[in-house]
Amino acid sequence: MLAALCLAAPAAAQRTLDFAPYAVPTEGAVAVTVRQGAPLEGAFAEVDRASNGALQRAVAAAGFLGDRGVVLNLPGVGPYRQVLLVGVGSDAPSARLLEDVGGLVGQWGVLSAVPKIELLWPDATLPAAGAHLALGASLGQYTFRTYRNAKPGAPVLGQGELVLRVADADASRRAWDADWSAVAAGVRFSRDLVTEPANTIYPESFVERTRAAFAGVPNVSIEVLDVPAMQKLGMNSILHVGQGSQRPPRLLVVRYRGGARDEAPVAFVGKGITFDSGGISLKDAANMWRMKYDMTGAASVTGTVLSLAKRGAKVNAIAVAALAENMPSGTAGRPGDVVRTMSGKTYEIMSTDAEGRMVLVDAIWFVQERDRPRVVVDVATLTGSQVTALGDEYAGLFSRDEALAADLLAAGTASGEDVWRLPLHPSYAKDLESPIADLRNGGSTPGAGASVGAFFIGSWIQEGVAWAHLDIASMAWREAPVLPTVPLGATGYGVRLLDRYVRDHVETGAAR
Ligand code: BES
Ligand code: MN
Ligand code: ZN
Repeated sequence: MLAALCLAAPAAAQRTLDFAPYAVPTEGAVAVTVRQGAPLEGAFAEVDRASNGALQRAVAAAGFLGDRGVVLNLPGVGPYRQVLLVGVGSDAPSARLLEDVGGLVGQWGVLSAVPKIELLWPDATLPAAGAHLALGASLGQYTFRTYRNAKPGAPVLGQGELVLRVADADASRRAWDADWSAVAAGVRFSRDLVTEPANTIYPESFVERTRAAFAGVPNVSIEVLDVPAMQKLGMNSILHVGQGSQRPPRLLVVRYRGGARDEAPVAFVGKGITFDSGGISLKDAANMWRMKYDMTGAASVTGTVLSLAKRGAKVNAIAVAALAENMPSGTAGRPGDVVRTMSGKTYEIMSTDAEGRMVLVDAIWFVQERDRPRVVVDVATLTGSQVTALGDEYAGLFSRDEALAADLLAAGTASGEDVWRLPLHPSYAKDLESPIADLRNGGSTPGAGASVGAFFIGSWIQEGVAWAHLDIASMAWREAPVLPTVPLGATGYGVRLLDRYVRDHVETGAAR
């Protein structure tokens, strides 16, 4: 019964995305962009002309100035059922801007009953503009409706089509099919898994959903380590986190080979705590329900490799999902327990709630031993400290490799999934000293908790491996839809960032 539930396809009926040559419709629902100061130009001018100036009068009456990200919805303008104006400010057009425009129209489309929306973008300067509009629209119109029954008699919203009318419709369609739709699929995969509650997504069902998503995608192999396999390898650290739960842990490894045969891979390792109750170091009740999203790192690294494989990226990349449920019970691990990890290194548990680093170090050690990656990036909703430091604007980036740090910072800016670098000072090691083990798993004093956690993970990185840690605790979940391409709830943060990193800094051969 549970298996059937978790395998049910997300029933998210959405607008189909179609591409058509630029032309100004004479009726229906249209969306047009407006630059800062609302100059009468481009599609805005053409739609105004078709409505005999009614559009401009409405804009003046509303005081709409074309500020970036501001949307004005005008029903019944001239011959049009709806005109949706999207402010784009005064920045030069960019792929990111187009994604935001698409996202705003997509979000609006979710709440609208009109069967067809036509988004007009006549500008031919950006190549394949329609593909970026489509990426934004796909992410902006994301909804999760698996468990919501339709109310009888309620209007059907968010269905029909969204037509992207652009200068190069054919090139846009090709770029969407071959490239950007793969990125959308990776983000949507991540959001689906994160939104699913912990009674449907647990280590084994995460694996099954991953297998289903990768079915038929070429050059991919999937390896899954169950409890006996992990016991054999001495992976006591991930096993310790999982031992309090009825749902056994798993290590999921997805390998994609799109690069040269002899090229060392890039490994993305994600924290996959399908529910973090804190374990014996139990969390407060108030926000505990949100801890279903504590597997976002795992969902995002898996979603990233799904994107890379679907778009045929020229890279060898691996996703490792360290999957466990952190529960209190008679079999759960305790504070004070000492754990011998796969590497042989030991630590003493200060808090069973510092479980992310515990699952990650075995996963990171495993992939280094097995695959000899040249780069390891781990992604984790690791600490409340990161939330306090950076809020929901930036993920925390920790790295001792200047080139890798620079690449990830640049990828953050380019993708719109920003990161901010935080320190790994050697003094943080003092917080991790134990009198009876090599390390302990948490700091003793309240302090630089995000850095201390990063420092712990870094202690399992082998010589010569470029490593970065992304603490995405604040980025995984949104309480309100404040960004054009990120709806409320699961963000899928990390997929676009890491796709960008691979696109700009690995595929080009620029990375070490
Ligand atoms: N999953 C939490 C971190 C978290 C907090 C993510 C808030 C998202 C929002 C993590 O496992 C945790 O509990 N961290 C502890 C570490 C401490 C015990 C050293 C924390 O940050 O308090
Ligand atoms: Mn925890
Ligand atoms: Zn956690």
